[in-house]
Amino acid sequence: MPNQKIFIFDTTLRDGEQVPGCKLNTKEKIELALQLEELGVDIIEAGFPISSPGDFHSVEEISKIIKNASVCGLSRAVQKDIETAAQALKYAKRPRIHTGIGTSDLHIKAKFNSTREEIIERAVQAVKWAKNFVDDVEFYAEDAGRTDNEYLARVIEAVIKAGATVVNIPDTTGYCLPHQYGEKIAFLINNVKNIDRAVISCHCHNDLGLATANSISGIIGGARQIECTINGLGERAGNTSLEEVVMVIKQHAHLGFYTDIKTQKLNPVSRQVAETMRMMVQPNKAIVGSNAFSHSSGIHQDGFLKDSLTYEIINPEEVGADGSKIVLTARSGRSALAHRLHKIGYSFNRNDIDVIYEHFLQVADTKKEVMEDDLHKLAKAYQASIVTA
Ligand code: KIV
Ligand code: ZN
Repeated sequence: MPNQKIFIFDTTLRDGEQVPGCKLNTKEKIELALQLEELGVDIIEAGFPISSPGDFHSVEEISKIIKNASVCGLSRAVQKDIETAAQALKYAKRPRIHTGIGTSDLHIKAKFNSTREEIIERAVQAVKWAKNFVDDVEFYAEDAGRTDNEYLARVIEAVIKAGATVVNIPDTTGYCLPHQYGEKIAFLINNVKNIDRAVISCHCHNDLGLATANSISGIIGGARQIECTINGLGERAGNTSLEEVVMVIKQHAHLGFYTDIKTQKLNPVSRQVAETMRMMVQPNKAIVGSNAFSHSSGIHQDGFLKDSLTYEIINPEEVGADGSKIVLTARSGRSALAHRLHKIGYSFNRNDIDVIYEHFLQVADTKKEVMEDDLHKLAKAYQASIVTA
């Protein structure tokens, strides 16, 4: 039995909402926050309160309405940001302030024109400010993916000493390879003296398509929180996709991890996020794409119809998907054709199917997908041909 809980920190309403075109108003944010709570996420990052009066209001309203999950507000390592986040979170049952600063040499020089020592002081100061308002303070070391590990360990030790309860190690630019990210987390476990006083969090971006792999590598390395978004929405190529990490953890229970996510809600919530944010999901997206449980090639269809486990590792019901689909194209085989004809009320023997299949291929070569209407036409034409013969 898996016994290590992985906390799911959802940032759809913050990092996800940063996507151009995905901006939400307060009503939409509240509706989605309620869905996320129903889904079973542990922490909802509701927004970045200082960024606009509208976002402040959204975080405040979400704080009033959410009962079980922690509600988190983002801030920079700036006093005014932190005070504003605290203000927006004042009604939350479990408030968390998320504050931090860039720690890679590139960020230290290019963004802050500062030094490593000064950045540690600013990080510590930010955590102390946040601690004046809430117990639960998460610190992010922005661009940790490209931060020197020895220096990162010093930053993390200092912020934990200042009271950080969660330490976020973002691969902000999606640069790391899975083994590097996992090793970075393991390095912190082995080199930060007070690491047992905080939870380590993975926050991975998908610039190289590695966000899910990196997050999983992070928990194997010792992290216990994953920051993720529904449908993998987020800056540029997106963040770690919630549905993917949750299902990796479930499918690979031998790793010893579990989450409290109600997986049957994954597809309904994905649809609601896509509609509300007006950002459709790519059809081949794992778990929630419209083709995630579609079988279209003859070899796969034949195997699937004999035993679904041959080509499906997840039961669609388990993730709230509509069900498996046998899609007919010019790459489909006879068993799929017979199966679909049978589903719409025709039962033909093997010889009949052989003949209909030849006509089917002619139709299939002219279109992307052979639809139910086409099947009725093919079946009726065949029936008429036997009567005439
Ligand atoms: O990607 C990142 O580094 C972030 C931080 C603000 C947590 O989103
Ligand atoms: Zn991010």
